[in-house]
Amino acid sequence: MNNPYEAGPFVKWAGGKSRLIDSILHKISNHINLDEMEHYIEPFVGGGAMFFYLAYHYNFTKMTIIDINLELINSYRSIKEDPIHLIRHLDILQDKYNSLHTLEEKELLYYNIRQVYNNYQDKNELKEKVDFERAAQFIFLNKSCFNGLYRVNRKGEYNVPFGKKERINIYNQRNILNVNEVLKRTTIIHGDYTQTFDHIQEQENTFVYFDPPYRPITSSSAFTAYAESGFNDDDQSNLANLCKELHLRDVHFAVSNSDPHNSDPTDMFFDNLYEEFNIYRIRANRQIAADSRSRSAISEILVVK
Ligand SMILES: C[S@@+](CC[C@H](N)C(=O)[O-])C[C@H]1O[C@@H](n2cnc3c(N)ncnc32)[C@H](O)[C@@H]1O
Repeated sequence: MNNPYEAGPFVKWAGGKSRLIDSILHKISNHINLDEMEHYIEPFVGGGAMFFYLAYHYNFTKMTIIDINLELINSYRSIKEDPIHLIRHLDILQDKYNSLHTLEEKELLYYNIRQVYNNYQDKNELKEKVDFERAAQFIFLNKSCFNGLYRVNRKGEYNVPFGKKERINIYNQRNILNVNEVLKRTTIIHGDYTQTFDHIQEQENTFVYFDPPYRPITSSSAFTAYAESGFNDDDQSNLANLCKELHLRDVHFAVSNSDPHNSDPTDMFFDNLYEEFNIYRIRANRQIAADSRSRSAISEILVVK
């Protein structure tokens, strides 16, 4: 049964799952009846393509989203707390940008906002309290930068260059209000995916979908700079151990990742890690890729239990 509010991602996010949702859910339905699930948890929520899709199509009584990226979580929280307040800040930035006449002026504004954003000192405060202006800057940068993505350097500074857009349209009011409705039923957590355990209750039918930073297929596609911290093979193994623990507790889960077979058919990394579970290979078209060669169809791994 559909819910009244259909929402979608409000930022463009690397690894966005929009195009793969149908194939992923088709495989998941071989093992899990999502209609019977009461609690949905997504511990690497990112842009939330899967989260919003499931929130619309299924009737979970509870939803929990987790991400380690504090800026992203601040944006989710701002929409949950007061979407109109956020929209006011978004309008200020958007109107300022669109009213400028030349691309040079727009570029200056972009780098100005980026600098203000990077000079922000109140990271600890952001953990406790929603900052609407900062959420608006985050969304503005995401929607006016080159290629629309979030990337930080080692110092944690946002370093994506100007997107050279004549006009920007950085939000959709109906969507922001629908996201607000969905988030009213959602617990938003800033932190590590291992917090998943804290939110599982024995008697509740729970489904967890993990879409972690992907294991790089080749060294050149080391696309792991989602946050200041990377995610290496040890982290991938820890995640697999967490899944085994979930299985022991009768919790259903699915995990997406890159398929090492794309570059090395003998690399059995995930086949070994998840050998006791169901492993599928799904054809995917990567959306964010630096060179056009790696934009061709490659497969992704989906583990389901
Ligand atoms: C592949 S992206 C998720 C894409 C998302 N599912 C979508 O469809 O847009 C991975 C996300 O995991 C987050 N992340 C990275 N390390 C994490 C950790 N240890 N715990 C929780 N989240 C983490 C990143 O900030 C990023 O948003």
